[in-house]
Amino acid sequence: MSIKNKILVILETRKGEYISGEEIATELKISRTAIWKWIKDLRNDGHKINAVTNKGYSLDTLNDVLSVAGIKLFLQDQKLAENIVLQKIVDSTNQVAKKIAIDGNADKTIVLAEEQTAGKGRLGRSFFSPSAKGIYLSIVLKPNLNLENATLITTATAVAVCQAIEKVAQVKAEIKWVNDVLVKRKKVCGILTEAVLDFESGNIDYVIVGIGINFNNKKKDFPEDVQKVAGSVFSGDAGSVTRNQLVAEVVNMFFAVMEKVGDGKFMEEYKKRSVVLNQHVEFLDKNEMIAATAIDIDNGGELVVRLENGEIRSLNSGEVSVKGNFYHE
Ligand code: BTN
Repeated sequence: MSIKNKILVILETRKGEYISGEEIATELKISRTAIWKWIKDLRNDGHKINAVTNKGYSLDTLNDVLSVAGIKLFLQDQKLAENIVLQKIVDSTNQVAKKIAIDGNADKTIVLAEEQTAGKGRLGRSFFSPSAKGIYLSIVLKPNLNLENATLITTATAVAVCQAIEKVAQVKAEIKWVNDVLVKRKKVCGILTEAVLDFESGNIDYVIVGIGINFNNKKKDFPEDVQKVAGSVFSGDAGSVTRNQLVAEVVNMFFAVMEKVGDGKFMEEYKKRSVVLNQHVEFLDKNEMIAATAIDIDNGGELVVRLENGEIRSLNSGEVSVKGNFYHE
């Protein structure tokens, strides 16, 4: 680990507390002048570090810059910290992750960015990804599963994100089929799973699970066309909860739920969190809007609907809208 990161680990571990330059210098076996130089560097990266004569340095409790050191503090599996690729600005973390996957040996790589210039959403949409306001995260997995189970990875991820949000923000998180995570009936997270195929066999080589979470955007921060639908985990002020903490919890819950993907056990929880089940819904079928009632989500993650003529259908992709005044103002 670099000296700079070691300093950040010390500051993150004792966030809000003043630590003398001398103490840090002794611990890292470098001069106090060198510490000062690295503190300046960390500040240039955006970290809010307070310095008081005779007291030393303190990482501000409101500091919220993504860092491996900050994430590692909350990671269950400490080894995963070595797999984090953190960048300031990228086109899309899914794109970066894909390139890493193509180069090989990429299982459990975690790509993160402060900002995306071309964040990708489902169905060809874009994902609004302003700097320092959200979590833009892609996890590379080498799935040991058949294709059917690979689609369940997205479903399981939605459950993991809900658990993580509830843990750090103490708010109820729900799921709108397929994989939008909602807080107070606003979409706070979207998931885009992409496959990297083995050219020769056509089999899935890697799965890239892209997770975008709106952390602390205000309503007016969102582009007008999504203002009615989009929300944030924290509407404005997250207090001392940081994005690093939520990233770590998402990663923790993600790998925990992935253990259960094969046996589908997480489906019960997915269903409990569903805002679509037993609701009147509409979906697009060959340019025609069809009204139906959502009656089940099967073990493959398909939405089972009953049409008005009594016909039962299973939907495996796309989107449904819930009838009525669904998204709260
Ligand atoms: C959706 O709701 O349409 C899915 C949005 C997925 C956004 C995330 S942000 C991290 C990753 N990188 C991307 O370009 N997209 C996903």
